[in-house]
Amino acid sequence: MSNQPKIILGIESSCDETACSICQKDDNRIRLLSNIVASSQSIHIKYGGVVPEQAAREQVKSIIPVITEALDQANLKPGEIDAIAVTQGPGLIGSLLVGVETAKTLSTIWDKPLIPINHLIGHFYANWIDKQSSDQPQFPFLGLLVSGGHSDLVLFEDHNHYDYLGGTRDDAAGECFDKCARILNLPYPGGPQISKLAASGDSTKFKLPRPMMHSYDLDFSFSGLKTAVLNLVDSTKISDKDLPNICAAIETAIIDSLVNKVVIAIKKYNIEQLVVAGGVAANSKLRTSLEREIGQVNPAIKLFVPPPILCTDNAAMIAAAGFFTEPVKNPLQVEANPSLSLSLSLSPTLNLWSVDTVT
Ligand code: KG4
Ligand code: ZN
Repeated sequence: MSNQPKIILGIESSCDETACSICQKDDNRIRLLSNIVASSQSIHIKYGGVVPEQAAREQVKSIIPVITEALDQANLKPGEIDAIAVTQGPGLIGSLLVGVETAKTLSTIWDKPLIPINHLIGHFYANWIDKQSSDQPQFPFLGLLVSGGHSDLVLFEDHNHYDYLGGTRDDAAGECFDKCARILNLPYPGGPQISKLAASGDSTKFKLPRPMMHSYDLDFSFSGLKTAVLNLVDSTKISDKDLPNICAAIETAIIDSLVNKVVIAIKKYNIEQLVVAGGVAANSKLRTSLEREIGQVNPAIKLFVPPPILCTDNAAMIAAAGFFTEPVKNPLQVEANPSLSLSLSLSPTLNLWSVDTVT
């Protein structure tokens, strides 16, 4: 990057969170100066999932107050920001538009460079925040992204250079948690609810499938598990005392499927670092299982998992990713892209953006 930014304001609005964060990079440490997240989750609870129109409307209401609060908490004025990073996609188009158009407007009126970020890549950069450079992930590493919309295994060679190894063929891991919770009449988002109940359950009381567990590719499948839970609930009279056991069986089945493919990938690519990201990474049992299983392959493998607050959607990860990504030449050409992915881009820096980057 020509003029390395020292202070980046990040904006995230891909789904039901409106977030703004300011990060400062000195030497090799990225410091979190502020991290504001407004969520419209409470509105979606009664529907058992995010209602896109409602989420977009809440984004419009929250975006300016959230940005103002992030600046206030960091004790900074717009003139002291060096660049703006914003989630370009993937996500809900209405929600994304609010963040992207706000970022373009601020970039223009404040005269600051604009850095569009793929939300999925952004998740990984939560692992760079508030750490000494020696404690940050080192390339190459295996990346496991587990969120509400995505479950992907990616081999990172460098910043913005990666090979896609595999991913879910149907539902994402977080989506599976959410859909199973809905079947069990538990509120959205389902992951934390199932995990909480699972803590007092016995995972062996109910047998649930682990689709694709024994295939040698690096893909996942979770829709069969969801269907099995639906059939179980339809065919069995579930009592209150069964609930923790079903939750434990669901959580264990999802974790087994993820950990099994991570272990295959680690052996296949001889990996020494595993970097986990996304909302499901907040699950403490996933972390413990990964630690135990990869430790058996090679006790020297380093595992990186962000603190729970930085696993779920936030703007700090978007600002952090901005320190390693080029700004665009013309901010007004940036467009929200709801269908950005990791799997389609062989050369992400060329394919993810529809605009030229500053050289
Ligand atoms: O990354 P994220 O905040 O949003 C997306 O980009 O999708 O992930 C949200 C997902 C939801 O499906 C939620 O149920 C799941 O992360 N999640 C969890 C936990 N906390 C959040 N899943 C399992 N255990 C948790 N503790
Ligand atoms: Zn996310």
